[in-house]
Parts: sequence; structure tokens; C-alpha cells
Amino acid sequence: MSEANTSPFYITTAINYPNGRPHIGHAYEAIAADVIARFQRAMGRDVRFQTGTDEHGLKMARKAEEQGRTPRELADEMSGYFHSMDEALNISFDRFIRTVEDDHHRASQAIWERMEAAGDLYLDRYEGWYSVRDEAYYDESELKEGEGGAKLSPQDTPVEWTVEESWFFRLSKYQEPLLELLKTPGFLEPASRRNEMIAFVEQGLRDLSVSRTSFDWGVKVPGSDNHVMYVWVDALTNYLTGLGFPDETDNMSKFWPASLHLIGKDIVRFHTIYWPAFLMSANLPIPQKVFGHGFILARGGEKMSKSAGNVADPLELAEQFGVDALRYFLMREVAFGKDGSYSAEAIVERSNGELGNAFGNLAQRTLGFIAKNLEGRLPVNNGFTEDDNALFAAVEKAVSTDIPEAFEVLALQQGVEAWLQACFACNAYIDAQAPWTLRKTEPERMETVLATLYICIARLAAAIGPVIPASSAKLLDTMGVPADARSYAGILGEWYEQLAGGGFRIEGPKPLFPRLELPAEDAA
Ligand code: MSP
Repeated sequence: MSEANTSPFYITTAINYPNGRPHIGHAYEAIAADVIARFQRAMGRDVRFQTGTDEHGLKMARKAEEQGRTPRELADEMSGYFHSMDEALNISFDRFIRTVEDDHHRASQAIWERMEAAGDLYLDRYEGWYSVRDEAYYDESELKEGEGGAKLSPQDTPVEWTVEESWFFRLSKYQEPLLELLKTPGFLEPASRRNEMIAFVEQGLRDLSVSRTSFDWGVKVPGSDNHVMYVWVDALTNYLTGLGFPDETDNMSKFWPASLHLIGKDIVRFHTIYWPAFLMSANLPIPQKVFGHGFILARGGEKMSKSAGNVADPLELAEQFGVDALRYFLMREVAFGKDGSYSAEAIVERSNGELGNAFGNLAQRTLGFIAKNLEGRLPVNNGFTEDDNALFAAVEKAVSTDIPEAFEVLALQQGVEAWLQACFACNAYIDAQAPWTLRKTEPERMETVLATLYICIARLAAAIGPVIPASSAKLLDTMGVPADARSYAGILGEWYEQLAGGGFRIEGPKPLFPRLELPAEDAA
């Protein structure tokens, strides 16, 4: 195993607009961030993980108005659904932040004051295009023509002409340092997203309008009674709020700059241009990495939308297929960084074929056999053979090297594939060794084979823990693996000998991954 990195690790997701209920795209980002957070914890790092909701801005204000209620009422209800989604999906966040919270207003005003003190804010008049859906300003040159000649943003959302007095941020001043930052290897990934951002900066940055006067649902600009901050100024600041900024807290010194902002590809501009510029202005360190993942599309690669009626509800999917099956599917099916599509058939196929057959049955057969034939006593190693050592080597390579190296660089799909290959190796081994035949002919050899499998299965259960945490914990509990042996390093240690020596007995295992059936409406 490569040298352990023990530095603190701060990971954040984007904070979601709670103008509607969460969909599978929101769930995808939360799950991916959770896999990374759990992975880093299992590597022994001190992890802080933040997620939450982005509740200010015109989009929320208009939605509330449409529904005849206050923005705060809308935010309270909808933010609750995001919080429940995270709990249902087993997302191990340390803080779920809501931007309406007092400490967040305070942090946003503090960063504003630092930008002002740096001479980077001035009052002027904004005249230009604004997309409420994206909460973004666009230059005329970026717009496209939609049906009937309507102007559309690069993301195909409607734009409206806006004229109002506004505070401006001197974004243009940061052109050179931003270019340098964007060209720094590792800052923005996947690298394929870099060129677009570099081109945007190279074509010349205009100062950014950072306050609004036409509505009041936002963080007040310090010292002003009619300006609220542009929602992205306050939204991005959430990453600092959660650490206690502007106070010089232990969390600030330990976790800032963030190790990773995990976001979707549509909001890379805000995170790799505006946010670093605000931080440079406020004289704060820049996050180490921003990763823009791809989009989850509906069956057939279509964009999900309410009008197409193909918006997948993550909670329904979790209920239908199981939380771990959904988590596994999303990490396994989609190359992290690229778009991918979701379908019920694909979830059922992956869950039954890989979680159920390749891993669940392997564990079930082995543990069931031990419970029955050894009365639950752990099998004795009567001397490992070359075959056993070959399996140990394959599993150890996956657990110590292939899986963690892939997860470390956010190649989540490859990490899962490496795990699956090691499961296949165990299946080939059990078929070749046939412990059920050895039972009569060579009971001692049978025990060694079962001991080999027991150790390898536990290693594989621990290694896939970040992806399917509940199933992994359930299996490791059944197997008696102590909590401190469940890390990537710990599971390669000597726990088996101690467990066997301590007289541990295994009870009959319970099925881990019930076989899924394709729901009738999807079995077209
Ligand atoms: N509120 C802003 C983010 C502010 S971060 C300081 C926002 N909210 S959002 O609700 O529209 O999106 C939240 C996250 O979900 C974003 O990272 C976005 O890219 C992601 N996704 C939204 N739809 C998605 C899919 N269909 N698939 C995958 N991720 C998607 O933007």
C-alpha cells in the first residue's frame, strides 16, 4: 500500500435549490460525495463532509410567489425533503447547511466586507441578460436562439433583460491569476472541462453584478437597505460558513482550503472562476480541487424534465430496489465525470448479477456452509497452499492497491470494477476447490479453503464499504470483524486469528441482496 496520507479532508457537494423535490441527479451527487467521504475515512483521514440547500435568489422567490406563500415557507418544506433524502440514502454528512441560517448570513457579509476592503466592489448600473433558472448573468454573445426567436442561455433556459442599480465585483482584475489557476494540473477535473473555462477567461472577463435591488429574498449587503447579494455570492460562501468563518476556528485552520468541491458540470464556471476570484479578493486560500461530474439522464439518454414526465424520484427507487443497490448501480454504471443514463432494467441487472450473484451468493454459500458443517466455529488454517496464496494475492492487490488507487483519483467506476474482478476470483476459487466435496474426503483441507474464503470475503466486504455501507456493515457484523479492523489497512491485518482464537461463532447468514424483479411497468 502506498504511503498513507493523513492530512484532513474536506469535501462538499453543491448545495441544492429547494424549489422542488430532489431528483436522481441530486441523489447521484450526494451518493458520489458520500462514497468519497467514506473512502477517505476508511483510509484513516479526518474527514469533514458538508452538503445542504441554497435557499435565496429570484428562482426561490418566484416559485414561492407562484404558490402563494413566502419564500421561507417554501424553503422550509423543500429543504426538509433534501435532508430526508440524504438520511434515506445513508449520506454521512457532518453538516447539512441551509443558507437561511444566521451563521451563514454572517459569513456572507464577512466575505463581502473583505472584498470591499480589497477595493473590489463598486456601485454601478447593470443592463443585461439574466436567467432565473440558472441564477446566472450571460453576455449577449453567449445566447442562442430558441423557438419563435426567444433568447436562450447556453443551458437552454430562458433569459430576461434586466436593468437595475447593482454592486459590481472586479472580476476582470483576476483574469491572469485565474488563467494560471485553471492551467494548474489537478485543480479542475475532469481535464476535459478545463478548455471551456480557459476559453471563457481568455476571451476577457467582465466585472460581475453581485447585488440585486428588485427583490429582497437574500443576504443583505452590509450597510445597504435595498441591496441583497447575488445568490451565488452567498451560495458559494456556504463552504466557509460550515467551518465557522469568519472566526478563526479549529475547523477553519484544519479544513480550509477544501480538498474537493464536488459539483455537476453545469456549474463549473461559478466554482472555478467566480469562487476563486472572490477568495483571492478576500485573501483566502483556493480549494485544492473542483470536480465537475456528468449528468444522469433518463432512459435512452433523454434529459429529465417535469414536462417529459421522466423525473426519477430517488426515494422511490431506493424503496423499490434498496438503497445499496441504487448506490452501487450509480457508481458502477456511470464513468465518473461522464453522463450516464438510468433505467430500472439496468439497476435490476447490476444488482442481481453483481451484488447478488458475484458477491452475495459467495458470502452466503461460504458462511452458510461454515454454520452448518462446523457449527459456526471458524475454520482452521491447516497450511495455505499455492492456490490459497494466489487468491490472497489477488484480493490483497485489489484491497491494498487497485481499489484505493482508483477511488483516490475519483475513478469510482474503476474502483468498483477492481472489486468485482476480485469477487470473480473468489468465485472461481470456490468452484475449483469445491469445499462441499472435500467435506468427506479431506476435512482438514476443507477448513483451510473455508478459512481462505472467510478472510477474502471480509476483505472484499470492507473494501466496498464506501459504496454499499449498510450491506457491508451487516456482513462484517455477521462475520464478527471488529470495527477497528474495517479500514483498508485494518482488514489486511491479523483479526482472523484473534477472532478464531477468541471462540467466535457465526450464525446462519441472512441474505444480503434479495433478488430484484423488474417492476411490471418497466418490463416492456
Ligand atoms: N444551487 C446551485 C448550486 C450552488 S453550490 C454553491 C445549484 N443547485 S441545483 O439544485 O440546480 O443543482 C445541485 C447539484 O445537482 C449541481 O451540482 C448540479 O450539477 C447537480 N445536478 C442537477 N441535475 C443533475 C442531473 N440530472 N444529474 C447529475 N447531477 C445533476 O446548481
